Amino acid sequence: MEIASLIDLSRVGGIILKSVTLNPREGNPFPRIWETSCGVLNSVGLENPGVDFLVDNILPRLEGCGCAVFASIAGESEEEYARLAEKLNSLEAILSGIEINVSCPNVKKGGIEFGAYLETVASLVKGVKNYTSIPLFTKLSSAVSDIAKVAVAAVESGSVGLSLINTVPALGIDHTRRKSRLGGVYGGLSGPAIKPVALKCVWECFRATGVPIIGSGGVMNARDAVEFMIAGARAVSVGTALLRDARTAYEIVDELPRVLRESGALSASEIVGTLKT
Ligand code: FUM
Repeated sequence: MEIASLIDLSRVGGIILKSVTLNPREGNPFPRIWETSCGVLNSVGLENPGVDFLVDNILPRLEGCGCAVFASIAGESEEEYARLAEKLNSLEAILSGIEINVSCPNVKKGGIEFGAYLETVASLVKGVKNYTSIPLFTKLSSAVSDIAKVAVAAVESGSVGLSLINTVPALGIDHTRRKSRLGGVYGGLSGPAIKPVALKCVWECFRATGVPIIGSGGVMNARDAVEFMIAGARAVSVGTALLRDARTAYEIVDELPRVLRESGALSASEIVGTLKT
């Protein structure tokens, strides 16, 4: 939500809120962020104030903000995901979608552990769908043996779209102390280093499902955004670049028409999934 104080939300297409859990979470031990040569490692551990706080204090402030608002949910069990969806369901006037995060690399229970198994993803998405009519977008990890199969399982179970990809599980080491750079030991890598991984995942999932995909992973400028669209993304989300300068969001939006023209397109919709192979 801090982003709302830094940029005018009506100038971007939408925002995806930090994943929320049933109960408030303090998150992982510090340090939680480490900048690498071509990306950022984080181990935040899903710090958040809990879904009730989101519903009572944050979402109402976003009503009429001028862009699409997506909530994101993360649970430690299938039941928790369903309860989160139930609590958000009454906010369909504010929420354009709910992201089901089954790919966080920084928690001991749930997260990436759920997203690795087709059966778990299928049953979890079905469970969530029973409790909400808000469109569901499942957020997947690249750290699985076949992401396209997981994507198909999510879509066949009721996910209308996908959010690809979460950060890539990674480790940074301080050789002078022989210690991890992060309090949580492992972290998730984001930024330019993971863009080629993300593009491959988006392309594979686009071909396997054809559903709307929100692409993410190293989108730093409008050219990156167009590359994601060519791979099959209908929209892109920007994370790491905003840590440096939140106004990067404006630059991407403003530059998009010019970069689309460089690719021979007049609109984003005509370029989605047009990778020549
Ligand atoms: O550590 C975190 O809060 C990361 C969340 C995520 O990658 O989904």
